[in-house]
Amino acid sequence: MTIKRILSGIRPTGDIHLGNYLGAIYNWVEMQHQSQQNLFCIVDLHALTTLQQTENLALNTRTVAAAYIAAGIDPKKSAIFAQSHVPNHSELGWILGCFTPLGWLNRMTQFKDKAGKHKELAHLGLYAYPVLMAADILLYKASHVPVGEDQKQHLELARDLAAAVNHRFNTDIFPMPEPIIQGAGMRVMSLRDGTSKMSKSDISDYSRINMMDTQDMIEQKIRKAKTDMEPIPETVAALAGRPEAQNLINIFAAMSKQNPQEICSVFAGNNFSEFKKKLTDCLINTIVPIGNNMRELMKEETELDKILSNGAIIANDLAEKHMYEIRSAIGLLKK
Ligand code: TYM
Repeated sequence: MTIKRILSGIRPTGDIHLGNYLGAIYNWVEMQHQSQQNLFCIVDLHALTTLQQTENLALNTRTVAAAYIAAGIDPKKSAIFAQSHVPNHSELGWILGCFTPLGWLNRMTQFKDKAGKHKELAHLGLYAYPVLMAADILLYKASHVPVGEDQKQHLELARDLAAAVNHRFNTDIFPMPEPIIQGAGMRVMSLRDGTSKMSKSDISDYSRINMMDTQDMIEQKIRKAKTDMEPIPETVAALAGRPEAQNLINIFAAMSKQNPQEICSVFAGNNFSEFKKKLTDCLINTIVPIGNNMRELMKEETELDKILSNGAIIANDLAEKHMYEIRSAIGLLKK
């Protein structure tokens, strides 16, 4: 597959976890070498939409940058930058907002989940979140957007908006971005409840593996991870109705580059205690070195900031060029 331009991003809202790694970064690391250009953003403006998570925004932005690099994103091959360092994201976000029917936003399940019961107290930023995300993608005319499964609906909105603006102005200014949602790690669930997503906002730290967790913490979290009394079945189909078991098998499959059926075949008939030991080893071998690497990178604040400012130069150049075309396609007076 020849890829023209990849764009993706993560919110700097606290601990970056195994779901972010397997659903996103892991695929980026592989794909960056098949693509002509890569843009990996730290979406700090999106982080502002969840007000309870905006403490330490600058520190968290550096932490996410460190996670990208520690996991294998090569700053020489890929631009790593903070969203707020490229003002055109906000400009295009506003423009796209003017073409977004409220009905489209009302369908967004993430807004419904995050706003909860008190919708009228939720902020405009949270409601407009998917429009800014569409701007992140369309600003760079990204051809491919690798994300976890939870972002599918947002990606559909970005495609709908691209089509709507193209149609309205009779142009092909926005190419259709292709979502890349792949692998057994596209939906990593909580270690405490196999029906809810592994997430930074879960109050229980035992629900997730964080990228900076130590060996001891990973051991404890997997030991305590919820399972059931049944042994591991021979087939993936037999995991239906066993969300916690399915989740651990998916995690193992993603971490060991196998498919879930291969894992079932190897462990069929075993109980979870043996399986958990192997899963723990596998997690420790991958996550602990990344975490250590992150800690080292975090000590080099100036170096990290330099990588972010180099990334922002590349992103700003492309963004300004495209924004010029977009402004003119929609008829704004030239500067
Ligand atoms: P965020 O920070 O919530 O998630 C970042 C990435 O991690 C993936 N992810 C997961 N994948 C599998 N299992 C999980 N439990 C899990 N939790 C998170 C997400 O799917 C995502 O790929 N809205 C985006 C950020 C964003 C963005 C963009 C992404 C803003 N603009 C433009 C791509 C392109 C988000 O979900 O952030």
